[in-house]
Amino acid sequence: MRIVVGIGGGIAAYKACMVIREFTKAGHDVVAIPTDAARKFIGDATLEALTGNPVSATVFDGVPEVRHVHVGAQADLVVVVPTTANLLRRIANGAANDMLTTTLLMATCPVLLAPAMHTQMWENPHVQHNVARLRENGITVMQPDVGRLTGPDSGAGRLPEPAEIAEMALSLVEEKATYPQDLAGRRIVVSGGGTQEAIDPVRYLGNRSSGLQGAALAACAAQRGADVTLVLGANSLPYKPAGVTVREVMSARDMQRDIEDELVGNTDAEDAQPSQNAQPADVLIMAAAVADFRPDAVADVKLKKGAASEPDRIDLTRNPDILAGVVASDHKPRVTVGFAAETGDADTSVLELGRAKLQRKGCDLLMVNEVGFDKTFGQPINGGWLLGRDGSEQQVPESSKRTVAQHILDATVELLAEDSSR
Ligand code: CTP
Repeated sequence: MRIVVGIGGGIAAYKACMVIREFTKAGHDVVAIPTDAARKFIGDATLEALTGNPVSATVFDGVPEVRHVHVGAQADLVVVVPTTANLLRRIANGAANDMLTTTLLMATCPVLLAPAMHTQMWENPHVQHNVARLRENGITVMQPDVGRLTGPDSGAGRLPEPAEIAEMALSLVEEKATYPQDLAGRRIVVSGGGTQEAIDPVRYLGNRSSGLQGAALAACAAQRGADVTLVLGANSLPYKPAGVTVREVMSARDMQRDIEDELVGNTDAEDAQPSQNAQPADVLIMAAAVADFRPDAVADVKLKKGAASEPDRIDLTRNPDILAGVVASDHKPRVTVGFAAETGDADTSVLELGRAKLQRKGCDLLMVNEVGFDKTFGQPINGGWLLGRDGSEQQVPESSKRTVAQHILDATVELLAEDSSR
């Protein structure tokens, strides 16, 4: 694939090098187009060494080849990283006053803009107006991350992780992903990862969940405009999704407490973030692999063999069923989504087990998928069936966890619309 990486003049310009690296590692042909301001942050030599292509920095480079026209026309994907407030303005207004903006005007392929700027700039109504306009015109503007900025302060406006930018950019082409703003104004709580149930200070009972499906759901919901909290258990995520509030938990009971806080909009919770947590949630998506059992008792000190404390058995107690509890409660959000990770057995298929689980849990949607030693857990792909409480059954083809997340969110949006029209 031919990818154009445009680079804006902000301090995060150095991270564009990492994004280029992600693309070249995956075998793509990259051309870098820095703006004049970006060239004050990174040198052409760095970009040429990383891409293996000459930098096209001005419209007067490669004049006989008419580069300002053909680089954009031949691109399969354009990514602008970082997109400054000034670049957002210029692109939204159809500017054509340098190599990057002329290239963008010529491009008919998917375009991803990854903004990075100070929080106050990002939240400024002029900037938000430009973002909305770009999105209306079919350009994907990534939600910036929340975190440490260039100076001592932190907030929204941080550039998302380079790996996330690359993954999302490729999803626009390879999976034809789109991110309509159809979850704007909604609060969504997603759980992901696995719980760990302590045996002693060193050991625990756990499971093989990677957190990838929960993170993909949280990232896509945030990109579709929702205010998202990810309640995250043990995981092996390469990065935390941008623009999402993450609450990390260990045990099933910790997870239950944080989910309940989030569902009711409890601002008294110890680690609650008041701006994000003040209204009840509209949706709960339980993608976490919650341990069904925990040891009866947790030893205060490490259990040692040969010592008096050496156990000859570990007795287990049943954990609360978080999803079933929420469904039966008075704070059930408008839409509840569960997952069923099943292996199936000689008598019962994965789908039959899923149908029975949907009845048992009472949730609105249930994503059923087959798991095994080398299937789904920790793998980038997933697939199965999305079952609805109304009896609908939609097959979800094997695809990336981001695409599976999009299927689930499409069905969620439909249910939210039905609910509001009642
Ligand atoms: N779940 C939950 N609380 C639990 C166990 C599971 O909220 N204590 C949620 C999971 O997050 C998932 C759904 O319930 O969305 C189904 O999880 P799964 O582990 O497949 O099912 P179980 O309820 O544990 O049933 P079983 O072990 O009998 O298959």
